[in-house]
Amino acid sequence: MLLLDEPLAGLAPAERERITALLRRLCERMAVLLVEHDIDRVFTLADRITVMNEGRVVVDGPAAEVREHPKVHEVYLGHGRDLLFAEAGRAPTGPAGPPVLRVSGIDTFYGKSHILHEVSLELRSGEVLALLGRNGAGKSSALKSVLGLAPPARGRIEFAGREIAGHSPEAIARLGVGWVPQGRRLIPTLTVAENLELGRLRRQGGQGVRWDLERIFEFFPRIRERLGSRAETLSGGEQQMVAIARALSGNLKLLLLDEPFEGLAPAVSETIFRALDRLRREVPILIVEHDLDLVLALADRVSVLDRGRISHEGPAAPLRVDRELRRQVLWV
Ligand SMILES: Nc1ncnc2c1ncn2[C@@H]1O[C@H](COP(=O)(O)OP(=O)(O)OP(=O)(O)O)[C@@H](O)[C@H]1O
Ligand SMILES: [Mg+2]
Repeated sequence: MLLLDEPLAGLAPAERERITALLRRLCERMAVLLVEHDIDRVFTLADRITVMNEGRVVVDGPAAEVREHPKVHEVYLGHGRDLLFAEAGRAPTGPAGPPVLRVSGIDTFYGKSHILHEVSLELRSGEVLALLGRNGAGKSSALKSVLGLAPPARGRIEFAGREIAGHSPEAIARLGVGWVPQGRRLIPTLTVAENLELGRLRRQGGQGVRWDLERIFEFFPRIRERLGSRAETLSGGEQQMVAIARALSGNLKLLLLDEPFEGLAPAVSETIFRALDRLRREVPILIVEHDLDLVLALADRVSVLDRGRISHEGPAAPLRVDRELRRQVLWV
């Protein structure tokens, strides 16, 4: 018997297909108990599905039956993406404003490993830019270059009209850059309130949009009830909300999101999506994400990284509907 806990979390679509095919072969040889949020693949793989909520079994049965069960929709699946995207509706945001972030021809190394090659990106105010690409393409490294955590050896990074390449991460954060790292990285033994305070600590000055607790609760009401809890006791979905709230805390001019939908139940993804769809009107966003339907519904423009080089740039809209273009540009 093989027990698997979210083997697909954080994988790019091509890798998901590979691992799913591998699982199919393994099922022929042994019993597999799979915990997984990639629900479309679960429905094609599983013979039987058990849905749990708050420590209890809600439904248990053959895949087809479970999929239609109203209780499963209520506690787990949510209302479905068609409705989600129809509601998001993409209110016209008007022409994009002046550039907020301009990355020009950066080369980034870890030791002797050359990771980013002449990477250029531009994000304008009022925009969401999605940075896409396979596992290991260099997406997180590109965000870390902007943040000063992996400073580029060559090239320029202009933020709000200033050159920031080579500045320290804390100086860059103070200018109003918020970051939601891949895997959330809350401080587990501190409370939610303390984690949020850390986000706010140094981002007090500046002329960005000021985020206090009340304003954050408007976007994530659940956080109010969990303020006194230690971060490690929160569910994955709640942790992701706190990680976003921490990035918002204080003064903010730019939000960097690294895989905000990783490892979330569908209904929780919907909650986060709705919050981000409102946030996009408040602050320019640079987002890295493997869930293409969600990220393309949020983004205005897309840049694709392929082994550390930009291989495609363009509007997000054509990629939302044109599967052939997705295959050419994103290999899926
Ligand atoms: N601190 C580090 N030291 C050395 N190499 C690193 C370091 N961080 C990342 N790398 C390497 O840099 C390359 C790009 O990694 P990066 O994390 O930026 O990819 P990614 O596009 O974010 O991938 P994923 O989608 O899996 O998160 C990989 O080959 C990785 O092994
Ligand atoms: Mg990454």
